[in-house]
Amino acid sequence: MFNFAATPPLSLYIHIPWCVRKCPYCDFNSHAAREGIPEDAYITALIADLEQDLPSVWGRTIETIFIGGGTPSLFSPAGIDRLLSDVRARVSLKPDAEITLEANPGTVDQARFRGFRDAGINRLSIGVQSFQPDLLQNIGRIHTGSEAAIAVEAARHAGLDNLNLDLMFGLPGQSTEQALMDLRTAAALEPAHISWYEMTIEPNTWFHRHPPERAADDTLWDIQQAGRTLLGTMGFVRYEVSAYARDSQQCRHNMNYWQFGDYLGIGAGAHAKISDAATQGITRISKVRHPRTYLDTAHSTQRISTTSRLAADDVVLEFAMNALRLEQGFSTATFTTTTGLPYAAIEAILNKGIADGLLAFNSDTIKATQRGQRYLNELLQQWMPEVTHHA
Ligand SMILES: C[S@@+](CC[C@H](N)C(=O)[O-])C[C@H]1O[C@@H](n2cnc3c(N)ncnc32)[C@H](O)[C@@H]1O
Ligand code: SF4
Repeated sequence: MFNFAATPPLSLYIHIPWCVRKCPYCDFNSHAAREGIPEDAYITALIADLEQDLPSVWGRTIETIFIGGGTPSLFSPAGIDRLLSDVRARVSLKPDAEITLEANPGTVDQARFRGFRDAGINRLSIGVQSFQPDLLQNIGRIHTGSEAAIAVEAARHAGLDNLNLDLMFGLPGQSTEQALMDLRTAAALEPAHISWYEMTIEPNTWFHRHPPERAADDTLWDIQQAGRTLLGTMGFVRYEVSAYARDSQQCRHNMNYWQFGDYLGIGAGAHAKISDAATQGITRISKVRHPRTYLDTAHSTQRISTTSRLAADDVVLEFAMNALRLEQGFSTATFTTTTGLPYAAIEAILNKGIADGLLAFNSDTIKATQRGQRYLNELLQQWMPEVTHHA
């Protein structure tokens, strides 16, 4: 069924599951660090986890590392230094590897940033969300807007100039003008990259149990269109649903996810996707979610929560879910090289999307149309029975 000529590029995701406190909208695997963080024990666990994963990627080079969370900037620079040194001692890392760390503005200063940079971090992703004090309070953030701006300047002075700022729109009490003002303030700080997310209400969050007042769907769509245009005029080119880059400084790690690359995932609740040319298959793996359980099991196979070998139909859907998020879409050749499947596996689905006006085919490249982008989730759901039908 699969026929890989070679395996796709490989990344490494490292999950740090603690925050100062839990934000009411957030369903990431993150826990308020009430009793302190067992930093040393957790780094030891991460390395034990990595060592056991290594046989699945023998001989392959890691192109990007992303330390995400939770709030990885709660770890000390010495801890991040030990973590990255121990990783480097065990894997082959590309000399120009992109190495990102996620930071919360309420947890950092210039000395800390310098320490992260000296440890090998060369890209920083700062969770700003908004610059407006009242809105930040509405969403339970631990920092003000000016602290976020100070963190950006401190990062730059510490030599970390490949910066991403995370912002959200659709916040409780936020007007269209306030959302656009946040984008102007962010752009004035001249980051390489802005991630601009619509705040979603996720199950198992405080906001799900206590829904806040928010703008109507049509207004959110209008905000998104206006923000997209504004970011474009300020030099930020949209290349994915929520990702905007200046001077082509796209996030290489996320691009690898969206282009259906491979990744190892170490840490509590981390996910991995690994293609194997020898056995001609793609496996997804997830690690146990709770930090305490993870710490207790990281040295054994019990650290693995789920393993599944993907069927061809799952691969078609997962590839599409990722590649159609990209502004550039995908080529038929990319589909065959990264999935190991023939073009015929996706042809009927694409033809239906084109007939419905949701997809466009342009000299070997398939993209979502504007209508397709708006209804991307519906579009993919529509495919599911089709995909199941092929099983
Ligand atoms: C792991 S956090 C970033 C680092 C750090 N934990 C922080 O919040 O400052 C990842 C990003 O996901 C986004 N995010 C989290 N929950 C979201 C939600 N419900 N809807 C949209 N974006 C969300 C936020 O922009 C957040 O900065
Ligand atoms: S948004 Fe960031 S700081 Fe807030 S709980 Fe989630 S991971 Fe932690």
